[in-house]
Amino acid sequence: MDSKTSQLIDLQEQAAKLYHHILVNTEAGEPALNYLHDRGLTDETIETYQLGFAPSQRLLKPFFDQHESDYQLLRQSGLFIENAEGELRDRFTERAMFPLRNASGHVVAFSGRLIKKADDQPKYLNSPETPLFNKSRLLFNFDLARPAIRQAGEVTLFEGYMDVISATQAGVNNGIASMGTSLTTEQIYAIERTTDKLNVCYDGDEPGQRAISRALTLLGQHSHLNLSVIQLPEGQDPDEYRRAHGDEAFRQMLTTAKEPPLQFNLRFLRRNRALDTDSEQLDYVNQIMPLLAQVQEPVELDMYLNQVANEFHIDKAALQAQLKQTQRDSA
Ligand code: UTP
Ligand code: MN
Ligand code: MN
Ligand code: MN
Ligand code: MN
Repeated sequence: MDSKTSQLIDLQEQAAKLYHHILVNTEAGEPALNYLHDRGLTDETIETYQLGFAPSQRLLKPFFDQHESDYQLLRQSGLFIENAEGELRDRFTERAMFPLRNASGHVVAFSGRLIKKADDQPKYLNSPETPLFNKSRLLFNFDLARPAIRQAGEVTLFEGYMDVISATQAGVNNGIASMGTSLTTEQIYAIERTTDKLNVCYDGDEPGQRAISRALTLLGQHSHLNLSVIQLPEGQDPDEYRRAHGDEAFRQMLTTAKEPPLQFNLRFLRRNRALDTDSEQLDYVNQIMPLLAQVQEPVELDMYLNQVANEFHIDKAALQAQLKQTQRDSA
């Protein structure tokens, strides 16, 4: 690590310490501490993730000035916003702070969450890209999760920081999250160097389901990972599920709600469709044929054909004939 990198990391880690101190030891931190407790986080979890609070008044600037930190380094840290006069102001204010660590466990950036609704501001504000922080490379919690991923032989990919943290609190330590944006190939390669099995556990809402579909396609194209989808009840995210049903039920759900990608895709294609007219049903059958054509196992294929035949009262022989046709067309 060159000296500039280590100095930049040092700044991030000092900031993390300070934010954490404000959260757990000061009166200014109380609203945020209440917020995190109300969301079911224990003090132990808050320690593990070194969660913090950026208060409304300026915090980092006076602190680093006192320590005579280098102006150029401060500029590059992403912790400040610079005005036209070149003055730096704290970027994060009135947010619960989630330190983002790289794979070696060093804090390289932050995400700050609003603790009160504010319609004109993003719910999570992330550090900008810096020499330390590349959003498309970072996997949240990868440093802490790696031993558990190796031990379990699989990784669970969540959508949000809170889902990962919530899972940890339920004793599930092999969870990671991409940075809100859709999964990237860089992230996929990093995962594949650690394990050969991945469960996608995104939110049970429309954006979450769309993101699963995209992620499965990308994972299929760029990895040999053995993939499963963990299907949540409509509208719930993993953290909400744990809060509603408890740790034990959460752990259960992660194993019992697992399905193969094909099963997910069949269901995804049905989403938001009534399928109550013949033409809609035909359209659906035409869309799933290319998926079924890829199933290698005769028994598995037969199972899917039975499902479709029964559900839409279609003759199974007709389905088989159409499948053959699809296979010929794609050959
Ligand atoms: P969600 O909207 O599902 O948030 O976004 P969440 O994880 O459930 O968060 P809580 O429970 O409301 O606190 C999923 C992820 O997308 C990114 C974050 O990484 C978030 O965890 N995101 C979301 C942003 O970066 N910015 C935003 O404004 C919103
Ligand atoms: Mn502490
Ligand atoms: Mn979501
Ligand atoms: Mn969510
Ligand atoms: Mn959530």
